[in-house]
Amino acid sequence: MPFTVADKKELLEQEAHRLYGLLGYVSRIQAKKWTYADCLQIAPYTLSIRQIKKEQNAVILAHSYTVPELVLGVADFSGDSYALSLKAKDISAEKIIFAGVWFMAETAKILNPAKQVLIPAGKAGCSLADAITAEEVRALKKEYPQVPVLCYINSSAEVKAECDVCVTSGNVFDIAQRLPSKELIFVPDLLMAKNIELELVRRGTPKKIIAAGGSCCVHEQYTVADVEKLRSAYPDIVVICHPECHAEVCAVCDYVGSTQGMQDYVARSTAKTFGMLTEQGLVNRLEAAFADKQFIWPFGTCRYMKQNTLENTFQALLEPQPEQVVSLPESVIEGAKKSLQKMFELSK
Ligand code: 13P
Ligand code: SF4
Repeated sequence: MPFTVADKKELLEQEAHRLYGLLGYVSRIQAKKWTYADCLQIAPYTLSIRQIKKEQNAVILAHSYTVPELVLGVADFSGDSYALSLKAKDISAEKIIFAGVWFMAETAKILNPAKQVLIPAGKAGCSLADAITAEEVRALKKEYPQVPVLCYINSSAEVKAECDVCVTSGNVFDIAQRLPSKELIFVPDLLMAKNIELELVRRGTPKKIIAAGGSCCVHEQYTVADVEKLRSAYPDIVVICHPECHAEVCAVCDYVGSTQGMQDYVARSTAKTFGMLTEQGLVNRLEAAFADKQFIWPFGTCRYMKQNTLENTFQALLEPQPEQVVSLPESVIEGAKKSLQKMFELSK
């Protein structure tokens, strides 16, 4: 338990009230909502983390899929991969704590090579980023020497360094369309590759997508039957999903978009009930932000994202372990930075 803050009852109660105002509408396991007692229990951690990060001139970035006590309780900024990479570009703090998965913390390091970047969860993987190696990308480039290579941001720094342009779920369709080539290599999401191909046909600018890699172990699980089940249980439901889902699932959903795209869609929609075919963390954020709307989430938790906790964030701030410190060779940083800069340029 942290004791860096005077553990006065009054301070803890104030903090618990602040947390309850943020977390009170958010579901925990078995749809049980956060209670004031839950908030009082985590208050010593959130209070201490907020105080230490101020003393250390540190900033906490948290992906929306991490636990709500991090996203809502201590993060200075939270969002999807694109929003976080944009934020990481302009950080003035001396230290970055990245609550997310390893490739995301690497991205923050690539954009801030001189700063200390820490990830509470240590080497938290991602089934997509782990699906392809830089060597496999080099082999693809050899096989298709003239074809531009796009890599999804869910890839290692070494893979990014081999690619021409990095993309995120928020800009992948527009960037794929903007590139002049009729053929593109896309790694490492096979399901998103299919969605790019179909979207470009829909836009009247078809391209051949040469894909390699794997799939997201959360989004690949959703089926058309899940969508049908939601529709028969809630007749007025609007079903939304992430482009890492199967193309057949995307085809029957009302909206397909990135984590930020889904948030924006919910904000502008007049619907009251939403079926969420995506990770639990985003559902929790929406519950906190839109108390007048109902979010039906069948299942889908990223075990990697959930490895970030208040406890290991506190510990990483005070005494980071070697596996929590992101370090990359200069040559990899230089190569990967080019593919990220190209993304920022093409997203304007
Ligand atoms: P976003 O780009 O929507 O943040 O997605 C990242 C991710 O890991 C989705 O599974
Ligand atoms: Fe990777 Fe899927 Fe987890 Fe996102 S949700 S970090 S793509 S495993």
